Amino acid sequence: MTSGSTTKSACRVVVLISGNGSNLQALIDYPARNYDICCVISNRPEAFGLERATKAGIKAAVLDHKNFESRERFDQTLMQLIDSHQPDLIVLAGFMRILSSGFVQHYTGRLLNIHPSLLPLYKGTNTHQRVLDAGDKEHGVSVHFVTEELDGGPVILQAVVPVIAGDTKDSLAARVAIQEHRIYPEAVTWFAQGRLDIAANGVCLDGKLLPAHGIQINQI
Ligand code: GAR
Repeated sequence: MTSGSTTKSACRVVVLISGNGSNLQALIDYPARNYDICCVISNRPEAFGLERATKAGIKAAVLDHKNFESRERFDQTLMQLIDSHQPDLIVLAGFMRILSSGFVQHYTGRLLNIHPSLLPLYKGTNTHQRVLDAGDKEHGVSVHFVTEELDGGPVILQAVVPVIAGDTKDSLAARVAIQEHRIYPEAVTWFAQGRLDIAANGVCLDGKLLPAHGIQINQI
């Protein structure tokens, strides 16, 4: 992030998507943006997020995983494409791929993900329906550093969202999405300010170890 002794350039961010890209849009639109989204890469050519990037004047690229014979070969090519942009941070924004350990290790400490649950609860897919099926009173969203465990890395920031009587998975997802769009740009901003570090036992913000659930914003 530092170039030369006196000038500082903005944190360079590559965003990976697979679909709609509403989180990408929130990162683009964030008024206090202190980072430079230098490229958006999708593993699906039809991802709407590619249009969002182009409209915002951001370079958009497709790397279709169907053209590769193995996960490792795809991830290697993806790493080369990402690294050609010399990013400080890689942001997964609805990037629906399991990452190889080589990929995760290559970006340790500079790879963020957003997941629609209060981690460590409900890793994996279909989180909103699973929360409803369990009869939980609250749900939410987590931003975390990525480690080799699926949806398992240390949490930076969480927003808690109440489950309301009569909620469907779509109504719940819509309320969670509002919080996703609020907390992801915030966490990326903290990273860009140099305030976040991944430690052996969690995440440090301004040098202080956060609780296991990170900073928690309660919507209830
Ligand atoms: C978001 O809800 C995000 O939390 C989720 O995919 C959606 C992408 O939406 N990510 C995961 O489930 C990762 N395990 P978007 O394309 O509109 O940003």
